[in-house]
Amino acid sequence: MTNNDIMAKGQEYVMNTYGRFAIAPVKGKGSYLWDANGKQYLDFVGGIAVCALGHSPQPLIKALQEQAQQLWHVSNLYWIQPQAELAEKLVKASGLDKAFFCNSGAEANEAAIKLVRKYFYRRQEAHKNEIIVFNNSFHGRTLATLTATGQKNTRKALLPCRKDLNMRNSIT
Ligand SMILES: Cc1ncc(COP(=O)(O)O)c(C=O)c1O
Repeated sequence: MTNNDIMAKGQEYVMNTYGRFAIAPVKGKGSYLWDANGKQYLDFVGGIAVCALGHSPQPLIKALQEQAQQLWHVSNLYWIQPQAELAEKLVKASGLDKAFFCNSGAEANEAAIKLVRKYFYRRQEAHKNEIIVFNNSFHGRTLATLTATGQKNTRKALLPCRKDLNMRNSIT
């Protein structure tokens, strides 16, 4: 398939929630990407900073293959050895108290919002529930993080935002 073939299929079947470049990367190695037409790119995006180790690093491939053969998924109903070990590494490297794992930036920001609310609730200061955000910011596309995202175009079709979220915003 060419870039155009993939783009046409995506336009037909994938819900149109993102503006995309007309490029369909199909292969990555280190800092390089190749699109479906065979064109090579030096990738400064890195999956929006997700592929910090580069594309398809051998140690990561090996670790993923080993884990996939050992155990695929059990959920957070149980204690999970690799999760506990990764949390230990993150805590020791960061000097912070605990690690929280989630699947997306929006969930991370939602967790931050919930944590700060819980913190003040426990201090019996639940009235301290206002969160100040910036215009032209981006914090994700869930309802709460959309409310914190200070971009009119991203939000306009999804308003009204609930006033009781108490996020100060000058663009609504
Ligand atoms: C600053 C910031 N916050 C939140 C997000 C949302 O992340 P996700 O798309 O993984 O939910 C992004 C995504 O680009 C981001 O750049």
